[in-house]
Amino acid sequence: MFFDAIAGFFSHDLAIDLGTANTLVYVRGKGLVCSEPSVVAVTQDSSGRGERVLAVGHEAKEMLGRTPSGIRAIRPIKDGVIADFEITEAMLRYFIQRAHSRRKLVRPRMVICVPPCITSVEKRAVRESALSAGAREVYLIEEPMAAAIGAGLDVTAPTGNMVVDIGGGTTDVAVISLSGIVTSKSIRCGGDKMDDAIINYVKRKYNVLVGERSAEAIKMTIATASPSGKTETMEIKGRDLVAGIPKVVVATSEEVREALVEPIHAIVEAVHLTLEKTPPELAADIIDRGIMLVGGGSMLRDLDVVLRQETKLPILRSEDPFTAVVHGAGAALDNLPLLKDVALT
Ligand SMILES: Nc1ncnc2c1ncn2[C@@H]1O[C@H](COP(=O)(O)OP(=O)(O)OP(=O)(O)O)[C@@H](O)[C@H]1O
Ligand SMILES: [Mg+2]
Repeated sequence: MFFDAIAGFFSHDLAIDLGTANTLVYVRGKGLVCSEPSVVAVTQDSSGRGERVLAVGHEAKEMLGRTPSGIRAIRPIKDGVIADFEITEAMLRYFIQRAHSRRKLVRPRMVICVPPCITSVEKRAVRESALSAGAREVYLIEEPMAAAIGAGLDVTAPTGNMVVDIGGGTTDVAVISLSGIVTSKSIRCGGDKMDDAIINYVKRKYNVLVGERSAEAIKMTIATASPSGKTETMEIKGRDLVAGIPKVVVATSEEVREALVEPIHAIVEAVHLTLEKTPPELAADIIDRGIMLVGGGSMLRDLDVVLRQETKLPILRSEDPFTAVVHGAGAALDNLPLLKDVALT
């Protein structure tokens, strides 16, 4: 009893999906405890030297594109890799402390999801970041592997499984068999590139500059990947580049589809290239089992329709595309032999 209590106290192990867009934290025995945008707002310290964290997560995301001088809202992860270590560390520390809901924290074991093809320098940097944020032991799992586990695929079986994770910064396509990634392809194209494409389209067509947040809202509300019968419209507010004053334009789902042709083509091409590199036995498995879509970007309407047309393969959507990676990492955290099997060395 007593030892159980102590063990429980010390075993707040964590799994973290440090994404370009969202950071999710899973705590062993508690489940998902945090799902927040990977954004940190910092302000100039009153001493004038250095910066102080003002807000993290949702609160900081609200500030994106709206900050006065003196405050910066930063997204420390770019294209799936850490671009600003100090800020990432501050963000991690904040999320971990909150996950433990006490200030003094026990040093947890940590599983961190990283992009496939991460360099050894980047790996070391992530490890160090986690250690100085308070981890006792750090395991790295490749995101597609975690996503496959989270989506309920049997990664240890001698069967080919294809996962496509469309995140904010990157799209990772991977074929997994026998607890390892057999072939994979990562492209720096995901939800952010779709937002950029919308911004550029509205700029070209209407001479109006819209912010990242507004572009994302359009994408999540009326965007579609494939032409459909029904046309939806949405007002977008931005700044008229000629008159210099705020302006409202009405965009249609068809226009947004046109704007997204390029990023969607890039994703389809990444899937094709991975299929071409897949050994025939595993390719045969994928014909039967299909392709599993995860990641927030996979929520784009009718993206599955386009992929089905382009590959002639069954396309499956995971039940919760946002949490598949962190839940997979959490499942590995709960199952040490599996963790040792799938973790990077
Ligand atoms: N309904 C939707 N339609 C289209 N895109 C969406 C939708 N909902 C969310 N997204 C996009 O999903 C992306 C975030 O997905 P996710 O949280 O999986 O990314 P991430 O894991 O943080 O990024 P990465 O894996 O690249 O580091 C954002 O670009 C967001 O705009
Ligand atoms: Mg991700």
